[in-house]
Amino acid sequence: MQNTKDSVVVLLSGSGSNFQAIIDASKKNELDIKIKAVISNTPGVKGLKRANRENIPSKVINNNDYSSRSKFEKSLLSEIKKYSPKYIILAGFMRVLSSEFIDNFNGVILNIHPSLLPKFPGLNTHKRALEANEEWHGCTVHIVTKELDAGPPIIQCRVPIKKDDDDRLLASRVLIAEHLIYKKAIKLMLTKQLIYRDNKLISLNEDLITPIQITLE
Ligand code: GRF
Repeated sequence: MQNTKDSVVVLLSGSGSNFQAIIDASKKNELDIKIKAVISNTPGVKGLKRANRENIPSKVINNNDYSSRSKFEKSLLSEIKKYSPKYIILAGFMRVLSSEFIDNFNGVILNIHPSLLPKFPGLNTHKRALEANEEWHGCTVHIVTKELDAGPPIIQCRVPIKKDDDDRLLASRVLIAEHLIYKKAIKLMLTKQLIYRDNKLISLNEDLITPIQITLE
């Protein structure tokens, strides 16, 4: 039988629970993908063990082994190109990618960010949401563009902030939401229900003005 699955490469830096959620979705046929490889910029992380367990080829490209970001990215680029992936999935990949790198993959790098973008781009999002007394926090899957955490958002999941939340508690609930929406976002893109063009997402021939939104109560 011909293999028609779309190929993806996953980039991560840590635990890889989002990666695991994507593996699980593909095993349950919720996602018609073949994860060709996993690349971590950090050695020894749990995400690599998950790849091993699933017999998914994995590689460490440690940014600390390179004298510059461009050399690191050159190595990353040549590794990714071996697999000709349709999409590159950033799943907790904690390096900022340069615009030169992103130029190689226009509109096919996806990222998950733990906030309701455009609120709280960057780091420590849970703590910042609590400090800002937000009623809602959450996560966003978006297309990676040259501006950090600012590419067109595909889908968001809202998570209510509870009275006794601290950043760890809140992060753990947001992570559950992340696992829910990343697979949905990948499916929307792969099945072309959403199309990326000219820095915008298009759905049914209309610009997608706001991302698809779900709520985790
Ligand atoms: C997630 O919160 C993701 O949004 C952020 O890094 C974390 C990675 O978690 N970019 P995991 O490695 O997928 O468990």
